[in-house]
Amino acid sequence: MAFTIAIDGPAAAGKGTISRAVAAHFGFAHLDTGLLYRAVGRKMLDGVEPILAAQQLRPEDLGVDGLRTAAVGQAASRVAVLPEVRAALLDFQRAFARRDGGAVLDGRDIGTVICPEAEAKLFVTASAEVRARRRYEELLAGGAVTDFETVLAETRERDHRDATRADAPLKPAADALMIDTSELDVEAAVAAAISAVEARS
Ligand code: C5P
Repeated sequence: MAFTIAIDGPAAAGKGTISRAVAAHFGFAHLDTGLLYRAVGRKMLDGVEPILAAQQLRPEDLGVDGLRTAAVGQAASRVAVLPEVRAALLDFQRAFARRDGGAVLDGRDIGTVICPEAEAKLFVTASAEVRARRRYEELLAGGAVTDFETVLAETRERDHRDATRADAPLKPAADALMIDTSELDVEAAVAAAISAVEARS
């Protein structure tokens, strides 16, 4: 039986952590859809035309190293404005969502465009400062050389591009449950997400 959980929200709001924990809790498969756009963005940085890169994307492209860097994140948000790129990635995401055994997909437009029929929809957010602080600490831990102001400016730039694009902008579905993680620790955020899903099943 298929059961789809859609988890959307801006960068570094905690979607990834929550999605993995929710998928583990229910025994569902998990797809981080940002990786699709990151893989296309990465290919664009290597000189491949982004629409072609999206049309030719293979599952193994999602496993390559270096997709989590800030530069690839910015490239991902630039290719993500192209309707042809988004269209090329649609079928893969929809097929994943309807697989037997249940699926959690996290991204920006899962509850609004990819899976408007999802059984449960969450929108995970946090203030730009809190999200930039988390991303900054992750980047430092990964050995990157950067400063907080740069990460905050990049976070705002990416939010703006994601929220104002014409095709599938970042916004909560009308029936999404909002979880603001600015003041929540990981356990509390995960517990809120699990009880929201249980309330829909
Ligand atoms: O979530 P992550 O930071 O990996 O996403 C990278 C970029 O990919 C986002 O800034 C956004 O522009 C794009 N994206 C998207 N739709 C999704 C997932 C990611 O447009 N479902």
